[in-house]
Amino acid sequence: MRLVLFGPPGAGKGTQAKLLAERRNLLHLSTGDMLRTAVRNETPVGIEANGYMTAGELVPDDVVNGIVAETLAEIDHTGFILDGYPRTVDQAQFLLDLLEENNAPLDAVVSLRVPEEHIVQRLSRRRTDRETGEIYHLDFNPPPAGLRETRLQHRADDQPEAIRKRLTEYRTKTEPLENFFKAKAHFVEVDGMGGLDEVRERVEEALSTIETTA
Ligand code: AP5
Repeated sequence: MRLVLFGPPGAGKGTQAKLLAERRNLLHLSTGDMLRTAVRNETPVGIEANGYMTAGELVPDDVVNGIVAETLAEIDHTGFILDGYPRTVDQAQFLLDLLEENNAPLDAVVSLRVPEEHIVQRLSRRRTDRETGEIYHLDFNPPPAGLRETRLQHRADDQPEAIRKRLTEYRTKTEPLENFFKAKAHFVEVDGMGGLDEVRERVEEALSTIETTA
């Protein structure tokens, strides 16, 4: 299955993508995670991306398209969930062209809906395990007792100013993609509010509807 998980910052894309990837044996491809690894390793891509990411701005399309194309080629363009990509109409067109060239059509775009007033609360209390990449929320999905506090990372772009910028970037550059996808792909909306398992069940339900109509 080839999927895009779409939605605003903090909608739960990473959380749901990890669950889905495990259950369906798909590659979870998060451009945010790939860029953060590049920043940590101080690669040329990481050095270029760092300033944009800390400020909450989008990294230039050609940089992100390059790393996605490279990774998808490694898995022959099959069996993946894209999380955080595409984020602009140019990226979306690049992806559809790439998949078409490789005779590997996208099965669906699943859009997680979460009202903006909940996003700041989700992001400001998010913590990520530096070692495993596991995503927690101090209130809604707390880390297990006994996990060393130094392992928990508070992302630099989860500070109030960067969150505001990310939301502006989302509204102006990413949200317009909804109409693009509605015209060019199988676009399904899922309510992203409620517990992690509730949302997971809704995503599964949406995917089984797609599978039965395919
Ligand atoms: P990226 O890492 O992709 O960030 P994002 O899209 O802003 O998404 P987040 O990771 O913040 O949120 P999420 O939807 O994955 O939510 P999560 O599951 O963590 O990108 C970071 C930066 O990289 C960008 O700003 C940009 O600079 C750059 N970048 C990346 N891709 C790019 C691209 N394609 N083009 C250009 N630049 C790019 O959940 C959030 C919190 O909510 C967690 O604490 C979680 O535990 C909690 N939570 C999850 N589900 C629930 C629930 N149901 N109920 C309550 N809490 C929940």
